[in-house]
Amino acid sequence: MKVLCIESTPKPLERSYGRRMIKAFVEEYKKNNPEDTVDMLNLYENHYPPLSSEDIEEALNEGRGRMVEEAEKFKSYDKYIIGAPMWNLGIPSALKSYIDHIVVSGVTFRYNKVGIPTGLLKNKSIFYIGTRGGYYPFPVSLFAHDISYVKFILKFIGIKKFKEFLLDGIDQSPERTARRFEKTLERVRSHARRF
Ligand SMILES: Cc1cc2nc3c(=O)[nH]c(=O)nc-3n(C[C@H](O)[C@H](O)[C@H](O)COP(=O)(O)O)c2cc1C
Repeated sequence: MKVLCIESTPKPLERSYGRRMIKAFVEEYKKNNPEDTVDMLNLYENHYPPLSSEDIEEALNEGRGRMVEEAEKFKSYDKYIIGAPMWNLGIPSALKSYIDHIVVSGVTFRYNKVGIPTGLLKNKSIFYIGTRGGYYPFPVSLFAHDISYVKFILKFIGIKKFKEFLLDGIDQSPERTARRFEKTLERVRSHARRF
């Protein structure tokens, strides 16, 4: 199996709960699946700038260019691990920009004869590790567009198996988060064993 692990925070490992959870998840996954390859993609080290007019022209009119290449590359994996903090009720723009590069008509989805979009990725699965500074109980959960957005757009391209782990209240309850973090990592490792 080929696994792609996407990290989308600019923070260094030691200052990021999300990155430390990703690290624990990947280490545990590798331990349990030594024959698999896990490629790391840090969106702040590998830049995906906002789509240019040229990117769009090439992809949509000529079926080539960076979007097509990135979408093909993304499609070549079997499993994905995605880590992202909530930023301004959504995801960091680096992750949104990456998504804009890989959701490409004719590569990762297509419109069928009656104009309904159909995802072209089959038998793939995602594990999403999300972090949030605050808590979003119902009804404020209705304004949280991080995990729900990523889940829906990946379903749009055909990825139906989506599991998530959320660490919330990080900035609202910093002491509680720090005190429980070893236990949190254990829970993350347990998910990794079942992924
Ligand atoms: C630019 C920015 C915007 C943020 N917006 C939100 C937000 O809308 N809601 C929220 O709960 N936390 C917000 N946060 C807090 C982060 O979600 C939180 O600090 C982060 O998920 C912690 O994970 P980390 O340790 O991996 O960075 C924001 C943080 C930054 C830097």
